Amino acid sequence: MEIIRSATFEGMADKDGFPTAQYQKLYETLAKNGVKNMITGFMFVSNEGRAMQTGQAGLDSEEKAAAFKTVIDAVHLNGSKIIAQIAHAGRQTTKTGYRIVGVSSKKSIYFGETPHVLTTNEIYEVIEQFANSAYYAKSAGFDGVQLHAAHGYLIHQFLIASINNRTDEFKDGTLLLRKIIESIRDKCGDFPIWVKVSGDVDIEKNHKAQFIKVIKLLNGLKVDLIEVSYGTMDHALNIFRGKVPIKTVFKFNPIYKNKGLLWKVFNMPPLLAKIKPYTAQYNLEYAKLAGSYTNIPVSAVGGFRSLAEAQDCGLPYVSFCRPFICESDFLIKSKNNESYISKCTNCNVCAMYWKHAG
Ligand SMILES: Cc1cc2nc3c(=O)[nH]c(=O)nc-3n(C[C@H](O)[C@H](O)[C@H](O)COP(=O)(O)O)c2cc1C
Repeated sequence: MEIIRSATFEGMADKDGFPTAQYQKLYETLAKNGVKNMITGFMFVSNEGRAMQTGQAGLDSEEKAAAFKTVIDAVHLNGSKIIAQIAHAGRQTTKTGYRIVGVSSKKSIYFGETPHVLTTNEIYEVIEQFANSAYYAKSAGFDGVQLHAAHGYLIHQFLIASINNRTDEFKDGTLLLRKIIESIRDKCGDFPIWVKVSGDVDIEKNHKAQFIKVIKLLNGLKVDLIEVSYGTMDHALNIFRGKVPIKTVFKFNPIYKNKGLLWKVFNMPPLLAKIKPYTAQYNLEYAKLAGSYTNIPVSAVGGFRSLAEAQDCGLPYVSFCRPFICESDFLIKSKNNESYISKCTNCNVCAMYWKHAG
């Protein structure tokens, strides 16, 4: 069983998406602390694909990708691998200064933006942006890419039937994912492609059948690793689970920080009622379901807090996020002490105050 540090937004790039010294230090430190497989935080494939968070890294040009070489070299020097997570936010973004686009004009209840509906030609441009981004990643020396097809971002938006009301060929939501993978293969040849998917989602009934369809697709396309997460940003805390750091949310979250008292009184209780409780290994069931449809290595991410429970869960890979945020030397401590448990208390301040997540 191998451990992965799952994609974790850093907020450590400059305004154009170039890495800062802080970004370099983060990955160098993780590598020095024995993290052998790490996935970057989501990197935009185009300006339109930017997330709302400031400090997001980008992989939308060869020049920008080249700026990551020193990060990659530092990781390799310490015997570790680094995979670039590439993403397009689609409708799940706001206040980026760029057009907000989506599979349909349906709004995300969280972001509240009415997206421009991508035309068929524009979807082909997005496919090319992903292929170019992977190509830039390969030329910079990354060890592979992970497609962010989870958490309600653009690729996932196509897969959710209640959002995808298209009438063109992309009404088959899996077509976008297929074409992105095929274009990356055409452009990059033999270059590892990992894919992050969500098991269930809160905004859709019976997403399980679609999940199985996606796993079968990825199996047929022989991607290199499938990581199973949960949900969409419409119920963001169900991706993470745990406590709701209300004060941090209202202080830093650009969507919530200007909401008045009346809004809070009427809207918070129904939102809070939808939050699922934290349970250990909360995506393991879906990861095992994925594993029953494929021989491709599957990883589960969400609610693993010790090396021992990862070793016992029966998967070839297990991913950890928050444990590496609060202790970058989590693996060293775990190897020195078999019963070591992460100090992460699922307070989720890291998830809400992402400017300094890392
Ligand atoms: C601060 C923070 C940043 C995150 N950034 C990303 C990201 O960029 N891409 C992604 O796919 N998931 C991201 N996630 C989700 C994690 O990869 C992971 O799926 C989730 O935190 C559950 O794993 P855990 O219980 O080990 O924290 C982020 C989570 C946190 C807390």
